Amino acid sequence: MPATVRRIRADEWSLVRTLRLDALRDPAAPLAFLESYDDAATLPDEFWQARAAGSADGDHAAQLVAIDDDRWVGSTTALVQRSGTQDHHGRLIARSRPVLVGVYVRPSHRGTGVVGDLIEAAADWCRERGFTELVLNVHRDNHRAVAAYRRAGFVPSGLEFTGVIGPEIEMVRPL
Ligand SMILES: CC(C)(COP(=O)(O)OP(=O)(O)OC[C@H]1O[C@@H](n2cnc3c(N)ncnc32)[C@H](O)[C@@H]1OP(=O)(O)O)[C@@H](O)C(=O)NCCC(=O)NCCS
Repeated sequence: MPATVRRIRADEWSLVRTLRLDALRDPAAPLAFLESYDDAATLPDEFWQARAAGSADGDHAAQLVAIDDDRWVGSTTALVQRSGTQDHHGRLIARSRPVLVGVYVRPSHRGTGVVGDLIEAAADWCRERGFTELVLNVHRDNHRAVAAYRRAGFVPSGLEFTGVIGPEIEMVRPL
């Protein structure tokens, strides 16, 4: 049976932590995520409780998870960046827009279409909130991720920059 995708619940904060820490230990993590395993592993329970609560309800963020036979096998979060704030790279956001972050699929479920289902669920959530475009940033050399995003309808916007983890490209997809 294919994995099902749904938004997390606030009381699932410990599953959120486990999946995130596993993602940060993935060999691809240095090209994929802005924080290190060592930093994330020391965060207190309250951090994960707040993160889960913030992306389980409301219009600021939505974390989607793929679940196969009760096991969390992948995730992504749609995060609304408000105009006038700064993004994770310290760049000023000119107009409010949703960005896709934290894209991760466990090795056991790569190549199964789970990443596409996660992206579609995130895109639906953004569309329901009136947004017409979804963006993401990806390391230039994360070829597998770039290929997966292209298949999901993202194209390079032309913006390239040096971020926390090195050279990144922005990709965008209409909703
Ligand atoms: C990125 C990720 C979510 C993609 O999910 P996935 O299930 O692996 O993606 P898929 O296998 O469906 O698609 C990947 C594409 O890359 C291709 N690919 C596979 N291995 C590759 C490699 N080493 N180099 C380049 N392309 C590769 C696949 O053939 C596929 O291309 P296609 O759609 O043209 O056939 C997953 O690999 C992952 O979690 N990686 C670690 C974390 C990460 O990098 N996250 C992204 C942060 S921006």
